[in-house]
Amino acid sequence: MEPFHHHRHTIFLVLLVFLVPPPLTLCINQEGLYLQRVKLSFDDPDNVLSNWNPGDELPCKWYGVTCDSATSSVKSLDLSSSNISGPFPSILCRLKNLTFVSLYDNFINSTLSDEDISMCQSLEHLDLAQNYLTGALPGTLADLPNLKNLDLAGNNFSGEIPLSFGKFQKLEVLSLVENLLGGMIPSILGNISTLKQLNLSYNTFSPGQIPPELGNLTNLEVLWLTETNLVGEIPESLGRLRRLTDLDLALNALTGRIPSSLTDLTSVVQIELYNNSLTGELPSAGWSNMTALRLLDASMNDLSGQIPTELCKLPLGSLNLYENRFQGELPENIANSPNLYELRLFQNQLTGKLPPNLGKKLAFTVD
Ligand SMILES: *[C@@H]1O[C@H](CO)[C@@H](O)[C@H](O)[C@H]1NC(C)=O
Ligand SMILES: *[C@@H]1O[C@H](CO)[C@@H](O)[C@H](O)[C@H]1NC(C)=O
Ligand SMILES: *[C@@H]1O[C@H](CO)[C@@H](O)[C@H](O)[C@H]1NC(C)=O
Ligand SMILES: *[C@@H]1O[C@H](CO)[C@@H](O)[C@H](O)[C@H]1NC(C)=O
Ligand SMILES: *[C@@H]1O[C@H](CO)[C@@H](O)[C@H](O)[C@H]1NC(C)=O
Ligand SMILES: *[C@@H]1O[C@H](CO)[C@@H](O)[C@H](O)[C@H]1NC(C)=O
Ligand SMILES: *[C@@H]1O[C@H](CO)[C@@H](O)[C@H](O)[C@H]1NC(C)=O
Ligand SMILES: *[C@@H]1O[C@H](CO)[C@@H](O)[C@H](O)[C@H]1NC(C)=O
Ligand SMILES: *[C@@H]1O[C@H](CO)[C@@H](O)[C@H](O)[C@H]1NC(C)=O
Repeated sequence: MEPFHHHRHTIFLVLLVFLVPPPLTLCINQEGLYLQRVKLSFDDPDNVLSNWNPGDELPCKWYGVTCDSATSSVKSLDLSSSNISGPFPSILCRLKNLTFVSLYDNFINSTLSDEDISMCQSLEHLDLAQNYLTGALPGTLADLPNLKNLDLAGNNFSGEIPLSFGKFQKLEVLSLVENLLGGMIPSILGNISTLKQLNLSYNTFSPGQIPPELGNLTNLEVLWLTETNLVGEIPESLGRLRRLTDLDLALNALTGRIPSSLTDLTSVVQIELYNNSLTGELPSAGWSNMTALRLLDASMNDLSGQIPTELCKLPLGSLNLYENRFQGELPENIANSPNLYELRLFQNQLTGKLPPNLGKKLAFTVD
């Protein structure tokens, strides 16, 4: 009895296979096949790619994958903080509608060649920050016609910033923070007129000046050049950055006076100039234009003269001017700021008394 039963069962299964319509056969689409090759190129100790099942019809429900709802073609891949290692998977660029790639915070450990990246024509957002990428920055990145956001911070890229980077058409965010980049900060960056954030801090550039051309970036909101081996003076032209909210030039060897045009930065919230070799007086007038300013740190320079009354009328939260050669008295109106939480003025040549009502709202003590 039993063998006969089995036999009937087999026949039934065979029929079933023939009756199943084609879309449900075990076959992934072409984009899914490319992604399978991406999976094969990665070492994935935490099995984050375990649901990348080649038996699925579409890759759209796979971990990190998002598809266009109308066409089911892959539009984004986010494998950030997934502990994956291996080379940059350039086969990804075969996904023609891929606009967003983040491999942020992994162990991607190859170089990034011109050929690798130039095929990714649809890319708008590329985040490869906090990986182990080495070698030169691919100049062809600037050929990606829709790229808006490029974050390569926290890798070991070396060599100079390619001159082709002046040709980005739509780039809004460029972050190359914490790499091993050399050469000088190139003036052609002043050509990327769409730029809103330029973050180049903590690189091993050769001593060079802040290119005055950066003053042409009138859409810029963030300019972050901390510890980038800057020498020479702060260019007057930076005063043209009327949308700038965040200016960080700290930990460099800048010399000369702080240009009076700095007070034209009417949107600026935060200015970091600490640990340079700036000399002369702070601009005496114009501070009243800077109604957004909350933080000014010009400590550890060689600044002299009086602390301007107009500066102290602003609703500052933090004012750090320690280790300079300021003289005279601290203007009394500093005590009227409703926001003040930090005031550090030690190691100057200030005289007189501190304003009597100072400290009521201060969280930190005045040194
Ligand atoms: C990309 O999207 C377009 C529609 O926007 C569609 O016609 C095309 O088939 C998609 N490409 C792929 C490879 O899926
Ligand atoms: C990556 O590895 C760390 C340390 O082993 C672990 O804490 C974390 O959960 C892992 N992340 C993922 C996405 O598996
Ligand atoms: C990159 O990481 C993979 C996987 O851990 C390893 O096998 C390979 O040797 C590494 N490659 C380089 C260039 O370090
Ligand atoms: C990156 O550079 C640092 C500093 O030179 C070095 O210690 C580290 O080994 C490098 N890592 C890789 C993956 O190349
Ligand atoms: C930068 O812009 C200037 C002025 O428009 C132009 O002469 C120069 O060729 C541009 N450089 C690059 C690298 O795009
Ligand atoms: C650039 O620096 C600013 C200021 O610290 C920061 O808010 C922003 O997140 C940075 N952007 C990138 C892409 O690193
Ligand atoms: C950019 O700025 C520089 C110096 O500030 C100036 O000489 C140049 O003409 C400007 N270029 C454009 C295209 O505005
Ligand atoms: C200031 O910068 C110099 C050179 O960049 C460095 O050697 C020094 O330690 C810095 N001082 C402080 C207090 O950070
Ligand atoms: C800044 O204020 C001064 C007067 O203190 C004024 O003459 C100047 O036009 C103002 N500049 C801007 C950009 O508002």
